[in-house]
Amino acid sequence: MAEKIILAYSGGLDTSVMVPWIKEKYGYDVITYTCDLGQGDDIKKIREKALKTGAVEAIAEDARNLFVDHFVFPALMAGALYEGKYPLATALGRPLIAKLMVDVARQHKAKAVAHGCTGKGNDQVRFDVTFQTLAPDLKIVAPVREWSMTRPQSIEYCRQHNIPVEAKPESPYSIDQNLFGRSVEAGLLEDPWDEPPEEAYAWTTDPRKSPNEPEYIEIEWEHGVPIGLNGQKMDGVPLIEKLNIIAGKHGIGRIDHVENRLVGIKSREVYEAPGAVVLHEAHRELETLCLSKQAVRFRTLVSQEYADLIYNGLWFSGFHQDLFAFVASNQRFVDGVTRVKLFKGKATVTGRKSEHSLYSKKLATYDEGSDYDQAAAQGFIKIHGLGQTTQAKQQLLKGGRGFDLPGLAGPK
Ligand code: ARG
Repeated sequence: MAEKIILAYSGGLDTSVMVPWIKEKYGYDVITYTCDLGQGDDIKKIREKALKTGAVEAIAEDARNLFVDHFVFPALMAGALYEGKYPLATALGRPLIAKLMVDVARQHKAKAVAHGCTGKGNDQVRFDVTFQTLAPDLKIVAPVREWSMTRPQSIEYCRQHNIPVEAKPESPYSIDQNLFGRSVEAGLLEDPWDEPPEEAYAWTTDPRKSPNEPEYIEIEWEHGVPIGLNGQKMDGVPLIEKLNIIAGKHGIGRIDHVENRLVGIKSREVYEAPGAVVLHEAHRELETLCLSKQAVRFRTLVSQEYADLIYNGLWFSGFHQDLFAFVASNQRFVDGVTRVKLFKGKATVTGRKSEHSLYSKKLATYDEGSDYDQAAAQGFIKIHGLGQTTQAKQQLLKGGRGFDLPGLAGPK
């Protein structure tokens, strides 16, 4: 009996060619693996196609809850946006798919795993690093890195092997999507000077055609995780699904990003992530109430590290465990409600409240009855500026460059 390989299978042209190709080239029996991360495909149909294509077995499962609870929400708690912009939908999905493939490989005593990533992107890194980490004994096969088939050649290959090819015309873009967002690259987007054409978008209404009245929503949070929408408790998957629709209708979540890939290439990418954009914005605003000044600043540094480790495929690492320990502790008082105004492509938080709020109206108010001791400010300011006033007396007021600063000559 032939040895087995688990192939990450999307049902598209490339991964369909791979089923017979891997058998011919490597002799493995191919078991395909497909999971639902909210990409909107019918995984049952994909499973059937895999079997028709020659897979000895085809596995299809719903992994949306795992994805949201164990990947998307930790990244949201951490405020992880790659280069301050990309909510990391694709990057969060890869380690989960790879991990589930390793589980299947173990169940079926497979000797190898395979994916359809090219040799130019980040996704190959995320798959391979996860495989190497969780199952170093498994051989990794990445046919697209090896073969040099053009699209017409792939179609011809399918004909010869009786693989059904969909008649629908090829999209000019390379698209990956899941519940947390849609990633679009290539085609017309490759010139970073050109505005992305409207056809690149699928989840968001052109803000010129979006409703002319704003819509307000309320999101409820517990420990940095959204748990309800508009007064109704909700699990993560339906909550994000709903937000994608509501915010998408108002044209929110379009991101145009020239990003730095791990493999050294700069890439122009367009993302659509209505739910993710609203959630990140609302989360950050709730933190302004619930985190101390130091906690929010240090969290900002952690956010960047966290985003980098996700982007770079290092999810299953000890460093991630360390960072998440900080994040979980940092988020323990991030409970409350945020009100978000959705209007013409923009999500604006217009209200936030929390039972653990550090904001004190009694301290902040300019009205009568404030608890703040204004007289105490004088002594505080004296001590705060002491180092600087001492230096001025001893050095700067004595001549030389005086208080010169760029573009501004101070008193000598
Ligand atoms: N550049 C993004 C990332 O590395 C998205 C890649 C998505 N892949 C695609 N075929 N469009 O996470």
